[in-house]
Amino acid sequence: MLDHPVSSLPELVIKGKKLRLPIIQGGMGVGVSLSPLASAVAREGGAGIISSACLDRLVSKRNGKKLNTYEATYEEVSLSKAAGGFAGINIMVALVRDYEDSVKGAIDAGADFIISGAGLPLGLPAIKPPKDTALIPIVSSARALDLICKKWDRLRYRPDAVVLEGPLAGGHLGFKMDQIDLESNRLENLFPPVKEMAIKYGDIPVIVAGGVYTHADIVRFLEMGANGVQMGTRFLATEESSASPVYKESVIRAKEEDIIVANRPGSPCGLPFRIIKQSPMYVSALKRLRQPKCDKGYVLLKDDEGKFARCPAKESNENCFCICNGLLSSAGYNPDKEESLFTVGTNASRVDKILTVKALMDELAGRVLAATS
Ligand SMILES: Cc1cc2nc3c(=O)[nH]c(=O)nc-3n(C[C@H](O)[C@H](O)[C@H](O)COP(=O)(O)O)c2cc1C
Ligand code: SF4
Repeated sequence: MLDHPVSSLPELVIKGKKLRLPIIQGGMGVGVSLSPLASAVAREGGAGIISSACLDRLVSKRNGKKLNTYEATYEEVSLSKAAGGFAGINIMVALVRDYEDSVKGAIDAGADFIISGAGLPLGLPAIKPPKDTALIPIVSSARALDLICKKWDRLRYRPDAVVLEGPLAGGHLGFKMDQIDLESNRLENLFPPVKEMAIKYGDIPVIVAGGVYTHADIVRFLEMGANGVQMGTRFLATEESSASPVYKESVIRAKEEDIIVANRPGSPCGLPFRIIKQSPMYVSALKRLRQPKCDKGYVLLKDDEGKFARCPAKESNENCFCICNGLLSSAGYNPDKEESLFTVGTNASRVDKILTVKALMDELAGRVLAATS
């Protein structure tokens, strides 16, 4: 294969925003994709996406001053956009308590995109008029996209794009445990009905995610009719990602058999969650060593009295680990107090070095001879 001095990949246009490359860097919580990563990706012509998860704590610690969720979101989105290009935020539906404040902070800061999954973002357009911000749900089936479009139609809003995430992704998965390995759920097989549904609702751009790794993968999905790709694991393994050094080393060391989907003990969000099995918090969770303690509260749901008080990891360590603390530790927030939990995509076993965002984007764009293709 020869070097391509200029990328052969087409632009991606979402709500009038013209991305030079059809590459969205997926939001990675907790604290993995913050403004250093998002702004670097934005500068290189892709979409840089921060994660909303636990942002108030992370930004408050950095600033040495307490900020609430709205303020932290506003600041981090602004920093992501400061160096030019397009940047936005991933806001998980499962983080109910902070959801609305995250959305408001992002829109007020002029986020180019709000990407929202880990649940169906049925009420997203009703929170605040999005102005120039593109609203992008994450789905794992055509049915989910249909449901969202029907609900959003009543709110007089159409998704500006949709991310179809297959079961090879990192983080939480939108599939039941016994559906993850089904042939019918391979990304290439999930894609055609979702594309058809997207066309039905006015040719919504479809972005595919989960297992996309090389320039050749991107070309293959574009040829199938995708408008762009969203990638997580490749960006986790960059200099600019805010994963802790031990996290990045674990990614480099991880072999195929080390990457598992955790469930009982698993995430209190109730979705299968892909991790490196040697993650210290997971090893302790298997032995039920960590006593339940809820001092962060991001996953809390309302109790009968309407108070955010319920999390399956709060009272028992039987089925769930404390994801807030495990992931905050992996982002270097409290590693001396809590053990880390490393979430990755299936392809983490292929990562053998940490790249700069510039080198990675050049490789993905096909501008250099890609060692991995
Ligand atoms: C470390 C890590 C953290 C992630 N956190 C989130 C998240 O907070 N919210 C979300 O919607 N997706 C999350 N994801 C999924 C990514 O945004 C992306 O869609 C997915 O990883 C794509 O698959 P890939 O890793 O094979 O490229 C995460 C992925 C990784 C690897
Ligand atoms: S128990 Fe842990 S995971 Fe659950 S809300 Fe509290 S701090 Fe978060």
